[in-house]
Amino acid sequence: MNALSQLAAAISLATLLPFTAQAAESKGSVEVVHWWTSGGEKAAVDVLKAQVEKDGFTWKDGAVAGGGGATAMTVLKSRTVAGNPPGVAQIKGPDIQDWGSMGLLSTDTLKDVAKQEKWDELLDKKVSDAVKYDGEYVAVPVNIHRVNWLWVNPQVLEKAGVAKAPTSLEEFYAAADKLKAAGFIALAHGGQPWQDSTVFENLVLSVMGPQGYEQAFVKLDDKALTGPEMVKSFTELKKVATYMDPNRAGRDWNIAAADVINGKAGMQIMGDWAKSEWTAAKKVAGKDYQCVPFPGTEKAFTYNVDSLAIFKLNADRTGDIAAQQDLAKVALGEEFQKVFSINKGSIPVRKDMLASMDKHGFDSCAQASARDFLADGGNGGLQPSMAHNMATSLAVQGAIFDVVTNYINDPNADPAQAAKRLASAIKAAR
Ligand code: GAL
Repeated sequence: MNALSQLAAAISLATLLPFTAQAAESKGSVEVVHWWTSGGEKAAVDVLKAQVEKDGFTWKDGAVAGGGGATAMTVLKSRTVAGNPPGVAQIKGPDIQDWGSMGLLSTDTLKDVAKQEKWDELLDKKVSDAVKYDGEYVAVPVNIHRVNWLWVNPQVLEKAGVAKAPTSLEEFYAAADKLKAAGFIALAHGGQPWQDSTVFENLVLSVMGPQGYEQAFVKLDDKALTGPEMVKSFTELKKVATYMDPNRAGRDWNIAAADVINGKAGMQIMGDWAKSEWTAAKKVAGKDYQCVPFPGTEKAFTYNVDSLAIFKLNADRTGDIAAQQDLAKVALGEEFQKVFSINKGSIPVRKDMLASMDKHGFDSCAQASARDFLADGGNGGLQPSMAHNMATSLAVQGAIFDVVTNYINDPNADPAQAAKRLASAIKAAR
């Protein structure tokens, strides 16, 4: 073979090889932008990836580290502006409507899947409304997290002479004092805006009750935002902060969770994705750790529904659209709902499963969560989480985050002034 025909052969092989390899491997591909990067959360998302791949599609992982998803949202926005959005992205709550109104989400792709799989029957109306735009599904909800939890290491509490997990704010402070005196970190916490506001929304729920919480964070009512109960919530936040690890600045939530798991700290205020870390560490609910509703919030449930939004693709990308549909079908399937939530710390979003949790092998924390979700749906206790993008636009949420984090870090901060600032920052962001 002369040099020229050698080159020709190499070129034809090179063009043939990737083509045949790709055709045999994949029916289409789907890139998923999400922020499930802790050890436990990665185990959960791997369940979805494995199933999509088993169905013959290529999974491109678009993980962006950063709890609460602020960094992932920034990446998603800049990619979209650059004309390169992924096929699927983790988008939640009212934000879905914003993406929908920009014409970026597909109102067609999920039509048949939702009909065939009877999504309208499977889902609570609160949930299905949140993932529809213009009456059509534009996202698939994958699970329900509860945010008002306190995670407790009972061995640490015992060593500090605390008999039981606290159920009121007074008991919480008493337990925290004992933990501190015994040399433990009383409250594991990461100093990041979304974590500060997760603690704050729990305090607002505890002090103001679910109706007060709704007035403040859902209705954004001026009176509720500046009233005496909001001032009290800020006062409690300062007190709670005195029990937090002094080295908390910038710490990720899962590192804080590890401090409780490893017995360095006694408690953590966090949504039940924290359980994914306990599960990954092979710890057992009710034995190695306890989950109790955040003190004073046992009659309430702040919900956080993770959902995967489906971007509009050019109609000629039939394989990739099929991949989006496959992912959506898998995500609401019974088997996935079970295995994903067991790994993720959440509960399924399917009503039939919420009503039969023990049958599916869920632990005591998940069973309690499902029970409370169903009960609080009927009594006004079920409220959307502000800190996890379920209650307001991201602009309003950002304004709240700024006020709360500035307040927590300012040694001279005044609670009454903070409440006023909160109201005016929200007004400006609306
Ligand atoms: C929430 C999200 C959860 C979890 C958590 C920590 O906003 O809904 O699934 O990932 O952030 O990153």
